[in-house]
Amino acid sequence: MDRIRLAAIAAFAFAALAAQAQPFPQRAVTLVVPFAAGGPVDVVARILAEPMRKSLGQAVVVDNTTGAGGSLGVGRVARAAPDGYTVSIGHWSTHVVNGAVYPLGYDLLKDLEPVAMVGGNPMIVVSKPALPAANLRELVAWVKANQDKVNVGTAGAGSSTHIAGIYFQNEIGAKLAFIPYKGTGPAMQDLIGGQIDMMVDQLSNSLPQVRGGKIKGYAITAKERSPAAPEVPTVDEAGLPGLHIAIWYGLWVPRGTPADVIARLNAAVVSALADGPTRDKLAALGMEIVPRERQSPEALGAHQKAEIEKWWPIIKAAGIKVN
Ligand code: MLT
Repeated sequence: MDRIRLAAIAAFAFAALAAQAQPFPQRAVTLVVPFAAGGPVDVVARILAEPMRKSLGQAVVVDNTTGAGGSLGVGRVARAAPDGYTVSIGHWSTHVVNGAVYPLGYDLLKDLEPVAMVGGNPMIVVSKPALPAANLRELVAWVKANQDKVNVGTAGAGSSTHIAGIYFQNEIGAKLAFIPYKGTGPAMQDLIGGQIDMMVDQLSNSLPQVRGGKIKGYAITAKERSPAAPEVPTVDEAGLPGLHIAIWYGLWVPRGTPADVIARLNAAVVSALADGPTRDKLAALGMEIVPRERQSPEALGAHQKAEIEKWWPIIKAAGIKVN
């Protein structure tokens, strides 16, 4: 081998080693939101992006890759390079339910690695403002009387709003029409405008509109009232006992991402969740942040696995399929 080739190989090896030694991140990190802008996942991602940027020293860019109940956005991350620059943010339906209702081209547990658990919120039964019901019992009576023409908004087949809507219709013994959107951001616009009748929506998406008098809120899908909305009764109090659904959020990266990169991303989420203004923004939406010890990748992995074991049999037994 001549001297020039040897020098070129040495220079290449040096550059590769130098690149490896560069601390993560060296460029912007993309946070893939699997639903439309303006909806609950998008809002949480945008709240986290700024404090994460401060901690990482690089921009955190929110990218909305929508469709198929969030499975297109999550699939994009599952197939991305395992280098920490493409991160999935999602929740109960995208990272648990979708595995039971979609023939996914990826495995939620084997193709993704957990980064951090964020927290969660219950859902709330809401309707268009003109709907003539003053409480949940009256809403149920109106829906049953008008079931051939009631339209329920969802963020697409298999999304949390779809699953919760199906549980609602099953509980009240009705058959309703579900109208899919690319997320509950756009669905909310149509609920406010009266183009759809009702939703079982995440509290964080609906609470500002209920407070602003733009839609009606009837009951939350939890055993306890939310500290952010103590005036809203629980489903147990309001007449549909047991309709409990909690939407918890997390972040994931492709399987094979180096442990130190995951630790760096986790530290950025943990520091964002410890930041006062960030906590206040999430709390105002009814999002409860998990305690520090549950923000670890291990805690998220264990919770996701337990939720899959709990919900897949329930969803499969309910016959909920999208294809
Ligand atoms: C969204 O971001 O649009 C929602 O998370 C979808 C849903 O809750 O169904």
